[in-house]
Amino acid sequence: MTTDTTTETIHPARGPLEGSVRLPGDKSISHRYGMLAAIAEGTSVIHNYSSGADCHSTLGCLRSLGVEITEDGRDVTVHGRGLHGLVEYNGQLDAGNSGSTIRMLSGILAGQPFTTRIGGDDSLSKRPMQRIMGPLSQMGAKLSARDGKFPPIEIQGCELRPLDYDMPVASAQVKSCVLLAGLYANGTTAVHEPAKTRDHTEVALREFGVEVETGRGWAKVNGPAKLEARELSVPGDLSSAAFFLVAAAIVPGSNVILQGVGLNPTRATLIDFLVSAGVQVKILDMGMKNGEPVGDLLVRGGALKGGVIEKQWAAALIDEIPVLAILGALSDDGLTVRDAAELRVKETDRIETMAANLRRMGVTIETTPDGFHLRGRQTFHAAEIDSYGDHRIAMAFAVAGLRASGPCIIQNAGAASVSFPEFWQTLRGLSA
Ligand code: S3P
Repeated sequence: MTTDTTTETIHPARGPLEGSVRLPGDKSISHRYGMLAAIAEGTSVIHNYSSGADCHSTLGCLRSLGVEITEDGRDVTVHGRGLHGLVEYNGQLDAGNSGSTIRMLSGILAGQPFTTRIGGDDSLSKRPMQRIMGPLSQMGAKLSARDGKFPPIEIQGCELRPLDYDMPVASAQVKSCVLLAGLYANGTTAVHEPAKTRDHTEVALREFGVEVETGRGWAKVNGPAKLEARELSVPGDLSSAAFFLVAAAIVPGSNVILQGVGLNPTRATLIDFLVSAGVQVKILDMGMKNGEPVGDLLVRGGALKGGVIEKQWAAALIDEIPVLAILGALSDDGLTVRDAAELRVKETDRIETMAANLRRMGVTIETTPDGFHLRGRQTFHAAEIDSYGDHRIAMAFAVAGLRASGPCIIQNAGAASVSFPEFWQTLRGLSA
């Protein structure tokens, strides 16, 4: 959990939101490009690298492992050390607030001929790590963790064995961890997933010259692999765009353009859901960047129907559910979420932190172990909100504040910097 003393005041929108927004580079893709560039041969340049603290935690860990990295604004140059060039770090790597950093980097660390300790902040120290410890142990690495499951974790790397792994939870971080470890194993490593998760690792590996086979619900790599340095450009973050898509959708008459957003089909379920909920979203033009679809989005405010998020959609929309809850409570039919128990092990228990803040605003919510129900046409009252140090809770409730009965104060607002340091300024720009 990120604790800071910053507060932001959100005033109800006095008129439609208007304007054009450029988003930070996609968080998921930035992590992957940083890590792959570090173990590639040669120098990679990554344009539009995420400005968020999480992706800088990844760069910090890589630097501690001997990787030379320079930054010029959002352009990051990584001097790759090859698959076997990382150097032992005697301290504890700091993954900060970032689950992606600790879980994905662990796959690389498991293949090293040395032992590494990696941990993070209070929030990360409460997040489950057995999901990566299991498969990495099966590949031969020795791992230990606080209470057997929480960070910090210690990873004693070795020559890894390939693995054919059936993932019990739908998690792109776990899939990526095993595939990255598979780069070091001698033979074919395969991961089978119970529901489709984001495939940025598979796409990025191909960009770095690695052959990846994929099919319905599985991906395979052959090790040992050789990665070649690349010049790459990160698309805008669709999960950050979600806050503005919902903000424009709930403020009548709004007209907002989001430029250069990543529209990978494993993430763009968000657009399908919004359209099914009655939001007017249009993809204005689409192209490809480094194997990732990218486009501009136009969103307009208007009537909202609401909907149900369950099964495959729950996994695909997991990061956007906090802000979709705001839309749900204002829609005609409300929002029901099921099959989303993963919300309870994110940066906070998001079912509880969302419910606590919604209740402060006078909104009725029924929670369940794996989701919640919000009836529609509810009124948001002015309130003091706590982000609990969770970036997506801070930003979701800033959006809620646009439709509140009076000014809302967001405590711990600086948490937004984990993925979107420019969020508050961008929101002010649209409501000016
Ligand atoms: C991510 C995967 C998802 C997501 C997280 C980023 C990634 O987590 O919630 O914000 O970049 O692979 P899980 O892999 O735990 O589902």
